Amino acid sequence: MSEQGSYQISTIASNVEKEINRLKAQVELFWDKECKHYIEFGLSDGMAIVESGSGPGFITEKILKRFPNVNITAVEIDPLLVDYARKYLSEQCLPNKYQVIQKSIMETDLPENSYDFAITRLVLEHLPNPVKAVREIVRILKPGGKAIFVDNDFEMHIMAYPNVTDLRELYNSYCQARYAEGGNPKIGRELPLILKEGGLSNVDFEVICAHSEVIGDEMFFKSEGLAIPSKLVHDGFLSSKVLGRISVEWRNMIKSEKHSIVRQLYMAVGEKLL
Ligand SMILES: C[S@@+](CC[C@H](N)C(=O)[O-])C[C@H]1O[C@@H](n2cnc3c(N)ncnc32)[C@H](O)[C@@H]1O
Repeated sequence: MSEQGSYQISTIASNVEKEINRLKAQVELFWDKECKHYIEFGLSDGMAIVESGSGPGFITEKILKRFPNVNITAVEIDPLLVDYARKYLSEQCLPNKYQVIQKSIMETDLPENSYDFAITRLVLEHLPNPVKAVREIVRILKPGGKAIFVDNDFEMHIMAYPNVTDLRELYNSYCQARYAEGGNPKIGRELPLILKEGGLSNVDFEVICAHSEVIGDEMFFKSEGLAIPSKLVHDGFLSSKVLGRISVEWRNMIKSEKHSIVRQLYMAVGEKLL
């Protein structure tokens, strides 16, 4: 099983560019709520931050824009995404206080006791050994530093009203595909235990939600898309018939005057004690 586990940008979806756009929309979908929690859990301007599994750099960008005096190290294993993030971030008019390094979260080679705050978003769910990743984050955190881990739990992904019945089948096939690659798409519920096992203390846990009545439908359309479902069909995890039915039901749901779309993310935080 590779250290990238169940997320490889070049194979998880049918199109890399579409997948990068989906990741961007997924940041937008939750950012306001997420940022409030980051602040509540101790993030403040001027801190030394490490973001692991930083992908195309969209969270790093958000943090630099909101906290211009932080110094942030983005750790990413995939060379394609390291190149993308370096180019993308250099084009954003950001304070020049960041570095993108190509390393695994399992072994960052960063100095120990160096960071005030660590963010690891939508990464543990893809790793065969998430506890080992938490241990590495604990190693590089300063005593008193905080680490946040954000993940999905595909028992509850997008829920809609009127109900789109076959979404359950789509998520079951997504889970099968990720489990087969060593990931754990239902890790959300396990996060507090994983943080404790990894060496963090004072663990807390929140579920954050995005709702179409609050942020609009468009954000949900952009953060889902067909690139991953099409790949599931291509790889034999989902039938094209079911995907066709979902598309029809989804369109009907949107047409309904009183429709709702809701999605959750699971967030756990812990502290490295002295
Ligand atoms: C679902 S993406 C999330 C990207 C970003 N954190 C976000 O929230 O938009 C998962 C990221 O973790 C990276 N990743 C997977 N295994 C990794 C590892 N062992 N070390 C560092 N990054 C890893 C992937 O390449 C990908 O960029």
